[in-house]
Amino acid sequence: MSRTWLVTGGLGFIGSNFIRLVLKERADVRILNFDAMTYAGNPANLADVSSDPRYRFFKGDICDAKAVDEALAEPVETIVNFAAESHVDRSILDPEAFLRTDILGTHVLLEAVRRKNITRFLQVSTDEVYGHVPEGHSKETDPLAPRSPYSASKAGGDLQVLAYGSTYKSPVLITRGSNTYGPYQYPEKLIPLFVTNLLEDKPVPLYGDGLQVRDWIHVEDHARGILHILEHGHEMNVYNLGGGNPRTNLEITGLLLAQCGRAFDTHVRRVADRPGHDRRYSIDCGKAAALGWVPRRDFAAALNETVGWYRNNGQWWRPIKSGAFADYFKIQYAELLR
Ligand code: TYD
Repeated sequence: MSRTWLVTGGLGFIGSNFIRLVLKERADVRILNFDAMTYAGNPANLADVSSDPRYRFFKGDICDAKAVDEALAEPVETIVNFAAESHVDRSILDPEAFLRTDILGTHVLLEAVRRKNITRFLQVSTDEVYGHVPEGHSKETDPLAPRSPYSASKAGGDLQVLAYGSTYKSPVLITRGSNTYGPYQYPEKLIPLFVTNLLEDKPVPLYGDGLQVRDWIHVEDHARGILHILEHGHEMNVYNLGGGNPRTNLEITGLLLAQCGRAFDTHVRRVADRPGHDRRYSIDCGKAAALGWVPRRDFAAALNETVGWYRNNGQWWRPIKSGAFADYFKIQYAELLR
């Protein structure tokens, strides 16, 4: 008997890696990928599985209740919600899009869960909802203290998810992942932006003193973590999924410069800091570990492999960077780099 999972935002970075993993490792699961194809939803991310008979694509926006209902015309067992606006810098430029997708879109899906016979709803969230963590590690029970329009929108979505669990007994779970890297990441985020700029022999814009700390997780570990929580997690629970690789942005920059054969003096531009920049994120992942999930990838090897992927897949990122991304880059960085 096959089961169908509706994956929203499956043409994005983490969603596409999750779908590839599920099709490979869960032979009885069919995937219905519901994606609005906004700037980061790229069919090329799943070109290799697009003709798999267990994979189908439905173009739609999670804010559009009618489109969601149409996608749910066939029996769906589970919804995994990856659909989100996810970039802090863009949320500073245009917060409304974040409120719409990350809060209203989540609400539309939760309403669909109530109406249809959905037995599991997993919300993919972020460690950024805990806000800046000066010391120690955030636990799932810690208060939320988001500080950017992006993280506040994700926190709003998380709270709606838990409220539906409490009020309507909706079968919900949440994962909160740390900063993710790997193949198919839109080149607006730190690692793919810096790698592709360095490969193009362009400078990289390092915000502020570069001593901000992020905990890096490879996308395959993150996707496996979401799958593990989907299959073994308990309803109404939140699970942190972190890589266990805290690094300053300066350290990441140094590693990428070395791997791309570029020098700090010629290729790093120190630019004005991001407004409201969170200094440090750090999560305690003991709860997911107790359920049997731990990240597997060695950071140095996986980062090296990631740089190699971008080096060998210019046909994937070059059209992105010369297209609509170029306009965004101008708006975000022209003044900073001047
Ligand atoms: P990012 O990849 O945007 O993820 P997030 O803000 O969600 O953690 O940024 C990761 C870190 O890198 C963050 O501290 C900001 C910094 N950064 C730069 O210094 N320069 C850049 O151009 C970008 C995109 C990020």
